[in-house]
Amino acid sequence: MRNLRDSDNVFLKENWYPVDESYADDLEIIGEIPAELNGLFLRNGPNPKEPIDHKNYHPFFGDGMIHGLKIENGKALWYKNRYVESSFGFGPNTHVLKHADKIYALVEGGSSPVILDSNLNFSDEIPFSENKEKRFTAHPKLDATKNELHAISYDFSEYLSEVNRVHYRVVDGNGEIKTDIPIKLDSKPMIHDCAITENYVLIFDLPVTFSTGRRSDSKGGSDYPVIWDDSYRPKLGLLNRQSSQIKWIEVPKCFLFHVVNSYEDKSGKIILDFCRYEKLFDFNNPLPFGKKPFLTRWEIDIEKGSCVETILDDRPMEFARIHPELEGKEHRFSYILNDGSLNNLFKYDFLKDSSEVHHLGDNRKGAEPVYIPKLNSSAEDDGYVVGFVYDRETDKSEFIIIDAENFSDAPLARVVLPSRVPFGFHGSWINLE
Ligand SMILES: [Fe+2]
Repeated sequence: MRNLRDSDNVFLKENWYPVDESYADDLEIIGEIPAELNGLFLRNGPNPKEPIDHKNYHPFFGDGMIHGLKIENGKALWYKNRYVESSFGFGPNTHVLKHADKIYALVEGGSSPVILDSNLNFSDEIPFSENKEKRFTAHPKLDATKNELHAISYDFSEYLSEVNRVHYRVVDGNGEIKTDIPIKLDSKPMIHDCAITENYVLIFDLPVTFSTGRRSDSKGGSDYPVIWDDSYRPKLGLLNRQSSQIKWIEVPKCFLFHVVNSYEDKSGKIILDFCRYEKLFDFNNPLPFGKKPFLTRWEIDIEKGSCVETILDDRPMEFARIHPELEGKEHRFSYILNDGSLNNLFKYDFLKDSSEVHHLGDNRKGAEPVYIPKLNSSAEDDGYVVGFVYDRETDKSEFIIIDAENFSDAPLARVVLPSRVPFGFHGSWINLE
């Protein structure tokens, strides 16, 4: 194991430091894995290859690595981690999900998705058939009713060429691009996430915009080519899914990496829940994890073009997930990581405006909690919450399975991994036959 984890770069310290590829089978289980969980948990994140430029490394540019855990009949069959191999350039490092019988590793900024199989073998197959435009996003939204992925993508190479546009793209149930609409903008915003409702796609044109002018002056030795523009007038685009017409409305000045979800309520208003940053990527603080985000709701009146903001919970929260079939539909629950100490998970009840806490342990740090509905679930929270947890005492990670209906209880099962899983970004549970 490498021993360089005292870097001055915060994103190379401790459990941010990369690991080598590995494989292990017949893993130790504490507790009992539910018999109905048969599948694969995958998680993507940055794992920079040597030699690492400690001064200038930024995790958004770290080489992608997928961590996979296969579970079958109550056993943890294997764990393996592999660098994302891409025939198209950069190995996507941000998300991994399955759609239309293919598993995709994903990133924003113009790099092509990469297809992999359930044994973490990477393919040079061209994503989305013969479509020439390979740009995508790490955060497409699934319309489960139509089995479509909806995405808003931007491309750094276009931004560098002063082309101010993003694309709205829809991938159908056959894995083909069925819609591709370029959208001209006034500026070059970083758009990490999007949101859908039954009739709209939400485009976040917020004050973090493309800029290469700060890199050599940045503190902390790392940077990403975007900057907070305090004079920016933040806008929300409401793209009508039928007509493709966009209505732009003014919204409060803030930034978001991740939405919780959005939907249209009975009165026709759009409800958007998200983790709200007051300011991010300003000149003196290029690190993306400065002041912590908090849970916020926007109520958007489409006719009036108005947006009413409510702070739902002022504790730091990030990496919210919901039931995977409820994107764009009304949700009651979300599972969210506490930002900062990372040692709590929240189950937030939007109906009761209350939350339960799952404490991971004082010396344990969690990651994005992924929700898995039971196969014949009877309620929105009739399922499991899973994810990796890093234990600072053992310097190893575990995969934990929590009963979502008894969220504060000890995990149903903990799978002890032979090594640690570095902090990373997003993942998915994939049911296997
Ligand atoms: Fe993300």
